[in-house]
Amino acid sequence: MQTIFLGAPGCGKGTQASVLAEKFSIPQISTGDILRKAVKDGTELGKKAKAIMDAGGLVSDEIIIDLIKERFNQPDCSKGYILDGFPRTITQAENLDKLLGSKSPIKAVIYFDVQEDEIVKRLTSRRTCSSCGYNYNMFTDPPPAGMECKFCGGKVIQRDDDKEATVRNRLVVYKEKTEPLKNYYEKQDKLIVIDGARSVEQVRTELIELYKKLAH
Ligand code: AP5
Repeated sequence: MQTIFLGAPGCGKGTQASVLAEKFSIPQISTGDILRKAVKDGTELGKKAKAIMDAGGLVSDEIIIDLIKERFNQPDCSKGYILDGFPRTITQAENLDKLLGSKSPIKAVIYFDVQEDEIVKRLTSRRTCSSCGYNYNMFTDPPPAGMECKFCGGKVIQRDDDKEATVRNRLVVYKEKTEPLKNYYEKQDKLIVIDGARSVEQVRTELIELYKKLAH
């Protein structure tokens, strides 16, 4: 079962996708995570992407589509996946439709509805383990006092793109390039809107029920 998690940066896509993916034994495909790993590993892709990501812009559609094609070829994608942070432009969505064809189309697109003030608060208070990628939040799930990850001991940091000025730019880019995807998938009758402003647990409970229904 192929689904997309759609919504503004910080709406909770990654938080929920990681848990659902584990529960339903399918991969979470996060283009942001793939790009961050490339940056960390110092690959050619990482070098191209770093400045764009730090400024809150979007990496080119061409690069992202190649990256997704490569990821879909891996065997763990055979039973489905959750796309987290992709597609992010109409061009990416059209390419995804072409790539999947009618054999394995996207089953549903889950849109996380969260107001801008809450988004800014969540992102500027997010802290991330630089080793395993676990996301903490200074209000709801603070990291240990020494800023060492409770899971792997890695250093917990603030992502460069979680500083307030960059967050605001990411929101501008989101409105211009990504928000039109709501309409794109509404026309395909695939859009499901959920209230993402509730607690992590409340959103999770709704998503698990939704996934059980979609799986039938
Ligand atoms: P990416 O990593 O995809 O960033 P994003 O979409 O901006 O997503 P975030 O990780 O910021 O938000 P999220 O919705 O996953 O929120 P989370 O669950 O972590 O992309 C980074 C960059 O890579 C982009 O800016 C771009 O440059 C590039 N890129 C990636 N994909 C691309 C593509 N397809 N095309 C082109 N460029 C691309 O939650 C955020 C915080 O809120 C956490 O602290 C969490 O604990 C907290 N939180 C979550 N849910 C709740 C809740 N219900 N209540 C309270 N707090 C909550």
